[in-house]
Amino acid sequence: MEKDRNKDKKEGASGKEVFSREKFMRSTRIFRYVLPYRWAFILGMVFLSAGSLLFLGIMKVPGEIFNIISGESRTGLSLTGVFLFLLLLLGVQSVLSYFRVQLFALVSEKSMAALRTDLYQKLVTLGIPFLEERRVGELTSRITNDVTQVQGVVSITLAEFLRQLIILLGGILIIIITMPRLALTMLATFPVVVILAMVFGRHIRKLMKERQDQLARTNVVVEETMQTIQTVKAYTNEWLEVKRYGQFLQEAVRISLRAAHMRGLFAAFIIFVMFGALFFIMWRAALMVQTGDMLKGGLVDFVVFTGIIGGAIASLGSLYTEMVSAMGATDRILEILAQDPEIRLEEPQGPPLPRFAGAIAYRDVEFSYPSRKDVQVLKGISFAIEPGQKVALVGASGAGKSTIMQLLLQFYKADAGEILVDGQSIYEYDLLAFRQNMAIVPQEVLLFGGTIRENILYGNPRASEEEVIEAARKANAWEFIQSFPEGLETLVGERGVKLSGGQRQRVAIARAILKDPAILLLDEATSSLDAESEKLVQEALSQLLKGRTSIIIAHRLATIRDVDKIYVLEHGRIIEQGTHESLSQADGAYNALAKLQFEVG
Ligand SMILES: Nc1ncnc2c1ncn2[C@@H]1O[C@H](COP(=O)(O)OP(=O)(O)OP(=O)(O)O)[C@@H](O)[C@H]1O
Ligand SMILES: [Mg+2]
Repeated sequence: MEKDRNKDKKEGASGKEVFSREKFMRSTRIFRYVLPYRWAFILGMVFLSAGSLLFLGIMKVPGEIFNIISGESRTGLSLTGVFLFLLLLLGVQSVLSYFRVQLFALVSEKSMAALRTDLYQKLVTLGIPFLEERRVGELTSRITNDVTQVQGVVSITLAEFLRQLIILLGGILIIIITMPRLALTMLATFPVVVILAMVFGRHIRKLMKERQDQLARTNVVVEETMQTIQTVKAYTNEWLEVKRYGQFLQEAVRISLRAAHMRGLFAAFIIFVMFGALFFIMWRAALMVQTGDMLKGGLVDFVVFTGIIGGAIASLGSLYTEMVSAMGATDRILEILAQDPEIRLEEPQGPPLPRFAGAIAYRDVEFSYPSRKDVQVLKGISFAIEPGQKVALVGASGAGKSTIMQLLLQFYKADAGEILVDGQSIYEYDLLAFRQNMAIVPQEVLLFGGTIRENILYGNPRASEEEVIEAARKANAWEFIQSFPEGLETLVGERGVKLSGGQRQRVAIARAILKDPAILLLDEATSSLDAESEKLVQEALSQLLKGRTSIIIAHRLATIRDVDKIYVLEHGRIIEQGTHESLSQADGAYNALAKLQFEVG
C-alpha cells in the first residue's frame, strides 16, 4: 500500500499534459491490447492504403476527361473507356472500404473490451485507500470516457491519419512528377501552414482537456445528487443542487468557449492561408495554360490535387490533436493499470485454507486514515480474544470502533503495532484466504440490485437451495421472504422492493450464516428497530454468533449482556474492560453509558 502511494505521487508530479517522447512511448503500451488482433489490424491498414492509392487514381480522372474533350489526350482512351475504368475503380474501392470498416471494428471492439475488463478487474481488486482518494465519477469516467477516446484512435483516428498521410505524400509525388515547376511554388507555402497548425493544435488540446475534466466534475455532481436524492428532497434543496450544477457547468462552458475561440482562429487561419495559397497557385497555373506551357487537363489536375493536399494537411492537424488528447486518456488508464492489486482474482474452490481457529490479538495498534494523516484515530489499542469468544466494543460515536474492524479486514494497514490471528501477523496470510475466514454484518446494510436469493448467496455462491433456505430460517428472514409473492426471487435494491432496516439486516445475517466464517464482525446498526424486529434480529444474531469468534460493536447495551468481555473505547483508546457485571459495579464510563441508556429507554 505504501508503495502504491509513492507511485501515485510520482505520477502526479509528472502528470502535466505535455507532449513528450517518453509519454508517447508510454502510451503505445496500450497497443498491447491490439496485439492479439494485429493481423486483422495490419490487413485493415493494407486495405486502407490500397483504398487511398485508388482514391488518388480516381482523382486523376477529371483531368484526363478534360484532356480528351479538348483533344489533347496522350493516353488514347475514349470517354466511355475512361468511365468504365472509373466504374471498376469505384467497385474495388467499395469492396475495400467494406472490409476495412469490418476489420477495424473487430480490432477496436475486441481490444477495447479486453482493456475495459482489465480496468474493471483493477478497480475491484485495488485497495480501499486508492479508491477512496478518487471520486466514484472520476473512476467510472476512466472506464467509459477515456476508453472511448482510445477506442476512437484505434478504430478511426490512426487509420484516418495513415490515409491522409498517403494522400498527402501521393498527391505531392504526383504533382512533382507531372508539373515540377508549380509544385515548387506549392511546396514553399505548406510547411509554414503545418508548423502554425501544430502550434495551434497544442493550445487547443490543452483547453479541450480542461473542458473534459470540468465536464467530468459536472457529472460527479449529478451522480452524487442522484445517490442522495432523498436527502436532497427532504431538505427541499433542489435549487441548491441546481445552482451547484449550474456553477460547474458554467465553468465548463467558459473553458469550452475559450477552446472555441482557439478553434475558430484555427479554422479562420486554415481558410485564409490554405485557400489563399490555393488561389495563388491556381493563378500561376492559369498563366501557364495561357502561354501554352501546360495542358488544360493539367490545370484541372493541379486544382484537384492542390485541394486534396490542402485538405489532407488540415485533417492531419486535427487528427494529430485528437491523437495527443487520446494520449492523455491513455495515461490516465495506464495509471490505474499500473497499480498493484491487493488481492488475487480467483474463484474460491472450497473452504478457506487455512481455516482459522479464531484467536485475535491487537498489540499497541496505532492508525490514522491515509486521507487524514494528521488525525490519529487509534492510539495504541491492545486486546486479545480466545477462539470462540465473544467480545464487544462500546463507546461514543467516532471513538474508533468501526475502524478497529476495518483494520482487521485489512481494508487499511495499521501504522504501528501488530494485529495477530492465530498467533501470526494478519499481513502474512494470503489476503484471499484471510478474508474468506471472515464475515461482516455492517453498520449500514446495502443490498445489491438483484433477487433476495442472490443477496444471500453472496455469502457462498456455491451453496445449495436447501442451504439458502436454512440460512434464511436461522436468520429469522424466511417468514418475511415467504410473505412476498415471488419469495426468494423478489427483486431488491434500486429497482426492486425496498426492505425495511430490520429485514435488510436479517438478509445480511443470512448471508453471513451461509459464509460460515471463523471470525464474525458485527457492526450493530445505530438506528434502533422496533421491539418486534429487534427481537427477531437478536434471535438471528444469537444463531450467527454460535461457535465463532465474534467482535460486536454494540450501541444498545442490552445486546451484549452475555459477551465474554466488553471494551469501552474513548478517542481511540481502551479506557475500561470487563464483563457486564464487573463494569456495571464499577463507577466508570460503562456505567455512565448504561445509566444514560436506561434513562432514555
Ligand atoms: N474513511 C475514513 N477516512 C477518514 N477518516 C475516517 C474514515 N472513517 C472514519 N474516519 C474517522 O475516524 C474516526 C473514527 O471513526 P469510526 O467509524 O471508527 O467511529 P465509530 O466508533 O465506529 O463511530 P460510530 O459509533 O458513530 O459508528 C472518526 O473521527 C471518523 O471521522
Ligand atoms: Mg461505526
